[in-house]
Amino acid sequence: MGLSLKGARWSGMIDKPNLEVEIAGIKLKNPVMTASGTFGYGEEFSPFIDLDRLGAMVLKGITLKPKMGNPPPRIIETPSGMLNAIGLQNVGVEVLIKEKLPYLKKFNTPVIINISGDTIEEYVELARRLGEVSKKMGVAGLEVNISCPNVKKGGMVWGTDAKATYKIMSSIRKATTLPLIVKLTPNVTDIKIIAQAAEEAGADALSLINTLVGMAVDIDSRRPKLANVSGGLSGPAVKPVALWLVWQVFQTVKIPIIGIGGIIKIEDALEFIIAGARATEIGTANFVNPKVTVEIIEGIEKYLIEKNIKDINKLVGSMKI
Ligand SMILES: Cc1cc2nc3c(=O)[nH]c(=O)nc-3n(C[C@H](O)[C@H](O)[C@H](O)COP(=O)(O)O)c2cc1C
Repeated sequence: MGLSLKGARWSGMIDKPNLEVEIAGIKLKNPVMTASGTFGYGEEFSPFIDLDRLGAMVLKGITLKPKMGNPPPRIIETPSGMLNAIGLQNVGVEVLIKEKLPYLKKFNTPVIINISGDTIEEYVELARRLGEVSKKMGVAGLEVNISCPNVKKGGMVWGTDAKATYKIMSSIRKATTLPLIVKLTPNVTDIKIIAQAAEEAGADALSLINTLVGMAVDIDSRRPKLANVSGGLSGPAVKPVALWLVWQVFQTVKIPIIGIGGIIKIEDALEFIIAGARATEIGTANFVNPKVTVEIIEGIEKYLIEKNIKDINKLVGSMKI
């Protein structure tokens, strides 16, 4: 369907719709963010896209100390997606602060740090440390990963039990005034209860979903294809699950939701927004097309013009039932 903007002004159509949204008190120039673990520390993507175009950058999950992650093989392709068992390999918070954040500071795009730990104390210490340097190093907020399926300790332990979610989030809340986004797992019986616990504990926003636990088997060796046996499923295969969970959580909490899971094209992002997400994160698609985030931003703007919607916020949760 072609879209002619000629004469838009005269026909009552709008020239430039508002794409700005607010998540956890952070102003984003558009609702398109990167998903943790699929965008490195940002620099890797600057040959492909102007990082200034993004709504926000969420960096690879960080822990207090550097982590080697799981042994290989730790990534395999699956129909319409992939399984990963990286196991939170990362440089550790001090290297992040000294070597990665200075590069990102020159961009006018909020940087959100995804944090993980084995214990509550580790999360709290990370939040405290990042709060301490936030102004100087340009940390806009934290995304608390309580949903990683690929680590032996911590990870999903906090995100699969409402009491544990409340406990960890209220401890982190006390340790920092930085905006807190809680990243939820789909691997639960009722995500609404977990979402509520996070909101009650003082979360400013929720992001969902992290990956779905899965596995694959090599029929010749009869071994699991991943050395870790299980991994996290992501990509287009998970989108319907993610959309359903976003829609459920949207009806449960008041805080903003960031929709994640299988977004590879403009229409996918729009589906999430209509189902209740105020912003979106793009993950696996970055591996296939490193320019996908910017293409989706441009596509959302075109859609708003075509539908004569002046403000993206009007679209959020506008699903008709
Ligand atoms: C290789 C890989 C690494 C990931 N690492 C992290 C991570 O460090 N922290 C986190 O919260 N999520 C991590 N995720 C989950 C993604 O951020 C996202 O929630 C998930 O992949 C679903 O989105 P997608 O289908 O668009 O990829 C990772 C995903 C992949 C594929």
